[in-house]
Amino acid sequence: MRIILAGLGVVGKSLVRLLHERSDELFKEYSIRPRIVAISDLSGSAIDTRGLDLKRVLDVKEKSGSISGYNKEVASLDTNELIEKTEAEVFVDATPTNVRDGEPGMTYLKHAMKFHKNVISVNKGPLALALPALTELAELNHIKLRFSGTVGGGTPMLEFGKRCLEGDHIVSIRGILNGTTNFMLTQMEEQGLSFDNALNLAKKKGYAEAEPSLDVDGIDAAAKLVIMANLVMGKKVTMKNVEVQGIRRVTPHDFVKAAKKGSTIRLIASVSDKLVVKPTEISIHDPLAVSGVLNAVTFTSKFAGDLTVVGAGAGGYETASAILRDMLDINESLVVAARN
Ligand code: HSE
Repeated sequence: MRIILAGLGVVGKSLVRLLHERSDELFKEYSIRPRIVAISDLSGSAIDTRGLDLKRVLDVKEKSGSISGYNKEVASLDTNELIEKTEAEVFVDATPTNVRDGEPGMTYLKHAMKFHKNVISVNKGPLALALPALTELAELNHIKLRFSGTVGGGTPMLEFGKRCLEGDHIVSIRGILNGTTNFMLTQMEEQGLSFDNALNLAKKKGYAEAEPSLDVDGIDAAAKLVIMANLVMGKKVTMKNVEVQGIRRVTPHDFVKAAKKGSTIRLIASVSDKLVVKPTEISIHDPLAVSGVLNAVTFTSKFAGDLTVVGAGAGGYETASAILRDMLDINESLVVAARN
């Protein structure tokens, strides 16, 4: 399987490391040899049709901060040119999330589909803004669009709702989809920290997005909710369909009041008739009352009842492991197509 990777930040680098470390194991267990044949980052690119030397990729990136030092002759190609010039089965978008216009990921995804590459995205922006249209585009071009790592990091929340509950009917979903705000709320609750101090601590620990408003104003959770609603419940919705309220107005005193009623406060993202993200009082015995950076999602299904999945919602290796799951899924469909 030949892969073009756009984005060499925390997740992109973790994917390179993971493929480097697990290459033999992947071949033994799944008969798959993923080869990254092209990479682009903010300042350049690298191509090798036989597969880039992944150890060297990491060294070059580490030393110079950019992939452009890998092979000078193609260093200035941009991602769209890589997509056009490089033969590959899969394009992976690990560029940063932008929920205003989805760029640059939006253009890359569309371009990759036009050039008949299967697409794996861990970038929430384009999906939250245009998932119904992108799904149609993928169908038109007969390629797969996969995005397991956009919700729950490495925790298979989308797959659980979509595949494990196949045949059932999901009536509603409620969840904690943002680790940063859950960490901050837990700090307010347990340590009495103010909003500002809790945010500073989340930044110090590297949890918050580069633009923390995405976390604290509920935008990241809303983007993930849109992705879940489309994939798991078949709704055709985008960011503009979500009522969003972040956690800026929550105070430590609110937790003291809630505790008297046996409750706590969490930033709950929910979808049934409406899509809503807002700080909500829940019982301390609710399975969603998780602490720290954890994510948790409860699926209410018609026959199996309430089922909750809990796990780490972010992290480089965790998210890279979700990309790998998507690769195996696409590989399976390529094998089936080749047989027929
Ligand atoms: N800022 C996000 C969070 C990262 O805290 O959940 C993972 O999408």
